Amino acid sequence: MHKVQDDRIISSHWQEEDGIAETSIRPLRLADYIGQERVKENISIFIAAARERGESLDHVLLSGPPGLGKTTLASIVAAELGNPIRKTSGPAIERPGDLAAILTNLEPGEILFIDEIHRLNRSVEEIMYPAMEDYVIDIIIGKGPAARTLRLDLPPFTLIGATTRPGLLSSPLRDRFGINCRLNFYSVEELTNIILRAAGILGLTIDEVGAQAIGQRSRGTPRVANRLLKRVRDYALVKGDGTINQVMAEQALKMLEIDEYGLDNMDRMILDAIIYKFGGGPVGLETLAAAVSEENDTLTDVYEPYLLKLGFIQKTPRGRVATEHAYRHLGYPVQENIEASLFEDEGE
Ligand SMILES: Nc1ncnc2c1ncn2[C@@H]1O[C@H](COP(=O)(O)OP(=O)(O)O)[C@@H](O)[C@H]1O
Ligand SMILES: [Mg+2]
Repeated sequence: MHKVQDDRIISSHWQEEDGIAETSIRPLRLADYIGQERVKENISIFIAAARERGESLDHVLLSGPPGLGKTTLASIVAAELGNPIRKTSGPAIERPGDLAAILTNLEPGEILFIDEIHRLNRSVEEIMYPAMEDYVIDIIIGKGPAARTLRLDLPPFTLIGATTRPGLLSSPLRDRFGINCRLNFYSVEELTNIILRAAGILGLTIDEVGAQAIGQRSRGTPRVANRLLKRVRDYALVKGDGTINQVMAEQALKMLEIDEYGLDNMDRMILDAIIYKFGGGPVGLETLAAAVSEENDTLTDVYEPYLLKLGFIQKTPRGRVATEHAYRHLGYPVQENIEASLFEDEGE
């Protein structure tokens, strides 16, 4: 099974130690879920409508980079509906029979959460289509010429799928989601509020500027924000009296080699490789991944979205290029005519 080996402090993947405080920090109701205003508004309307009609909620697809709150939102939807939720993931459902067993054991109105839904295998996915559409599954009994299909009714349920790569979903599967929500990176202000809220729950003393200093370096990602808060807390405890202010936050993050944009060594290595090894790009994903000894998927899921959002890299049909902004940030002289060299093929 593919598992991202990743213990970097800014990693937006789940890590072991997250589990400890996670349960208390994780928002349980929509009102505590900070930011993503459009998504929240949409979801609350659909929830209200489903309640009104006395029907199960339409299937929901949540997409966005790791750590933005997809799993949290799925649990919140279940809580708001007052219905149970059952959580699994695409790679965990290996055979059609596994999915059939899950589906036939659901309670009416139950939420089935499938994380990494883009990694469901095709034969499992095919069971999903009629299940989502008509709440039935067709199972094959027997083998060879004696085989026959048996149609089973399922209780009405809601599938919530989460994915970091909506583009990898097959279109028949994608089309069966009635509600499609894309989570975006959070603003510094939202992250500051997330940090202040978490600090309150953890009983920490922190001022707003301190929270903001952490928020600014959290890559737009709540999971990173919570993790940095814990690191800064430890630092403030050892170097001071535990109070978190701007100076403490900045010193702690500097020690962790996280810069003012929230970039760590790997991000800088990626930019450095594009600029130095590949002359600013364009460079293809595989080549770049090999140059920094990182997996393609990790590069695409974790690093690129944030570097793209910061405007440090751009995707072109011929690969990734570093922008002027990246040159400046890393202290390279800015390459003249980046734009012109990019489109040189077009005969300007
Ligand atoms: N909107 C939010 N407001 C407050 N905290 C959040 C929010 N979204 C995520 N978090 C925090 O970040 C953590 C990671 O979110 P999670 O739902 O596991 O992300 P994903 O499933 O997208 O990888 C959660 O445990 C929660 O503490
Ligand atoms: Mg998740």
